[in-house]
Formats: sequence, C-alpha cells, structure tokens
Amino acid sequence: MENHELNQPTVGIVGAGQMGHGIAHVMLRAAHNVVLLDTSQALVDAGAKRILKGLARDVEKERLTEEQRQHAVARLKTAIMSTSHPANSTGSGRSSPFPNLDFSALDFIIEAVTERFEVKASVFQVLEPYCPAEAIFASNTSSISITKLAAATKRPTKFVGLHFFNPVPVMKLVEVVPGLQTAPETVDKAIALAASAGKTPVKVNDFPGFVSNRVLMPMINEAVFCLMEGVADAAGVDNVMKLGMNHPMGPLELADLIGLDVCRDIMLVLYESFRDSKYRPCPLLEKMVAAGWLGCKTGRGFYTYPRE
Ligand code: 3HC
Repeated sequence: MENHELNQPTVGIVGAGQMGHGIAHVMLRAAHNVVLLDTSQALVDAGAKRILKGLARDVEKERLTEEQRQHAVARLKTAIMSTSHPANSTGSGRSSPFPNLDFSALDFIIEAVTERFEVKASVFQVLEPYCPAEAIFASNTSSISITKLAAATKRPTKFVGLHFFNPVPVMKLVEVVPGLQTAPETVDKAIALAASAGKTPVKVNDFPGFVSNRVLMPMINEAVFCLMEGVADAAGVDNVMKLGMNHPMGPLELADLIGLDVCRDIMLVLYESFRDSKYRPCPLLEKMVAAGWLGCKTGRGFYTYPRE
C-alpha cells in the first residue's frame, strides 16, 4: 500500500462476490485504494477478474481514460483471509495474517459476505486487531441489524450500514444506515464515501430490511405466491409488473438476479424480526432454494441462464 496516492481513502472490501467485486469496482473507478479480501485465492482471483473486465468496459464507454484505468488497476490489492477467530486472541503480540499488507492505512472496511450474522460478525472480529482505531467498519447487509453487528465489534460508534444495490456499478442508491450507537460523524463519513463513488446516499434508520428490502422483498415473495397458485406463469407475472408498473425487470427476473437464497434469507429476517406471518417465505421459494435453483448464479431460477 506504500504506493497508494495520498488524499484518497483506502477501502478494505471483504467478499469478492457479486456485491463485493461491484463495490470494489466503483471505489477504484473513483480513484480510491482498494484491498479486496476473500477466503480463497480462487474467489479473490474471480472477483479481481470481474473488476478488471468492468474497468476495461469503463474505458470502452468513455467513463474512464486508459490512464485512469491503469491507475485504478495499480490501486487494487488482494489478500486471503480466514473467518475463523482464534479463541481468546487479542491481536496484540500476534503476527498479522496479512504479512504483505499494511492495514494501518485503512480508512474503511466494507463487509459484503454471506447474509449470516455470525459470519459477518466474525469478519469484523478477525480484522479489528489489525485495523487503525479510527477506521470505519461498514456492512453491506441487506437486512441484518446494524445495531447488533456494531455491538459485536469494539468500535460501535464507528460502525454503519452501507447498503449497495445490484448491479453495483449501475445502481445509483446506497442506503446509509446508522445503528443505535453510530456517531453522527461516522454517518457523515459514510455518506461522503458513497457520494465520492458516484452514488446517491439515502439515510434510513436501522429496522429490519431498512426501506429497500422491507418494500421490495414482500413484493417478490408475493410474485412467487402468484406463480405457485397459478395466477400466471413466470413471464406473465413479470410482464404485468414491467408493462403495467414500468418496472425495469419483473419481480421474478429480479429475484433471479439477486439470488433466491438471498431473497429467502431476507424474508426470514423480516419474518423473525417482526414475528408477522405476512413475511413468511413462499413455500415455492423455499423449495427452489432447497433444489439449489438460486437464479442467475446457478444457471437456473425462475428462468434458465447460460453458465459463464
Ligand atoms: N451485472 C452487471 N452489469 C449489468 C447487469 C448485471 N446483471 N445488467 C446490466 N448491466 C449493465 C450493462 O452491462 C450496461 O453497462 P454498460 O453501460 O457498460 O453498457 C448497463 O448495465 C445498462 O445495461 P442495459 O443497457 O442492458 O440496460 P437495461 O436497461 O437492460 O438495464 C438494469 C439493466 C440496470 C439491470 C435494469 O434492468 C434494472 O435497473 N433492473 C433492476 C435492478 C434492481 O432493481 N436492482 C436492485 C436489486 S435489490 C438489491 O440489490 C438489494 C439487495 O439487498 C437484495
């Protein structure tokens, strides 16, 4: 990280998948320094490959010059991390598991790993001993309580939700979600980071699903009920919403893009948090997840997709 330019934040992004690689892409496009972490070389390499492809596309579309692309590529660093947390470890006196990285330069960590509280909390607990005390921790969670995640770290005032939307390089919105403990200056810095990456930050309070998934997921779930009950076939359901409501994608097509497992997990968070049966995941959604039909990423969901 020694070669990183001054005055540009350094952002650690944990999770090189659909959301993480997209967040890394927009941060690099904004001339920020990025450290991309995941649990295996194969995952990190796959994420980096998609980022490089995205940056090349930015040049084709004249969103970046070739020189800017080369600078962006040079600002990308990658590392492997394990989410297993040695018991009773404090980090002090322990050698860093990231010998080639100087974490002291990190301004933000944005976590974009699987939508499970334990996994997300573990990411922050593993990294915390190596991060500067002033670094801000952010979670890209779609629905898990920011307040609860913040409480699992030693820096609850410097913890915030930064919820990006898929596909990240295209979608303008970032929900900025303060937990109960989040300091106002942490929110200001998170808003500034999102804006610097070309996004439109909208501050919303920490309630299950925030605003986006509180409204979107029940609509998707209801579309699956329509399909299950034979109200219409998948194309029929989607066409009604596209042609009648001007949605760019139908809800079932969108569920395939998001991932049916992610949709089911978010419905479960809403269901368990509010204890209201209106949020029960549709049995057809559960069945498709059980079959491994998760949408675009597995080649089959409500529609079929050619594998990459
Ligand atoms: N991944 C990455 N990039 C994509 C993409 C994808 N799946 N689909 C389209 N794009 C890119 C294209 O490559 C193109 O980029 P370019 O400027 O380099 O050519 C750009 O998007 C526009 O693509 P199209 O010209 O094909 O435009 P469309 O008009 O078909 O728009 C869309 C594509 C932007 C995906 C549009 O269909 C859309 O807005 N769909 C709704 C997406 C949405 O609702 N996302 C939010 C999901 S909820 C979420 O993420 C929250 C989470 O917590 C669940």
